[in-house]
Amino acid sequence: MANQILVCKTADLAPGEMKRVEHGEQALAVYNVEGTFYVTDDRCTHGLSNLSEGVLIGTEIECSMHFGTFDVTTGEPTGSPCSIALRTYKVDMRGDEVFVDID
Ligand code: FES
Repeated sequence: MANQILVCKTADLAPGEMKRVEHGEQALAVYNVEGTFYVTDDRCTHGLSNLSEGVLIGTEIECSMHFGTFDVTTGEPTGSPCSIALRTYKVDMRGDEVFVDID
């Protein structure tokens, strides 16, 4: 059975916003894309930057370090210099609470 953690309430993040959530050693980025929540690792796969400090444009997160981009819905890199996919997490909405599966 998957291990789930509460990452935020829906009211915590307006559409177009994101935030970093720490769970033990893990750092996640939670995104609200037009009311749908997505979660990825917060650490950019290109370097030592936190994606939650970047810019969310639609479904794309732009890293603040070298301006590479990822699609937050799939984790796939969409813009250079990023070439390694981000880990994504399955989101489980329960009422006004946003949970993710972490294993
Ligand atoms: S560290 Fe994110 S694009 Fe380089």
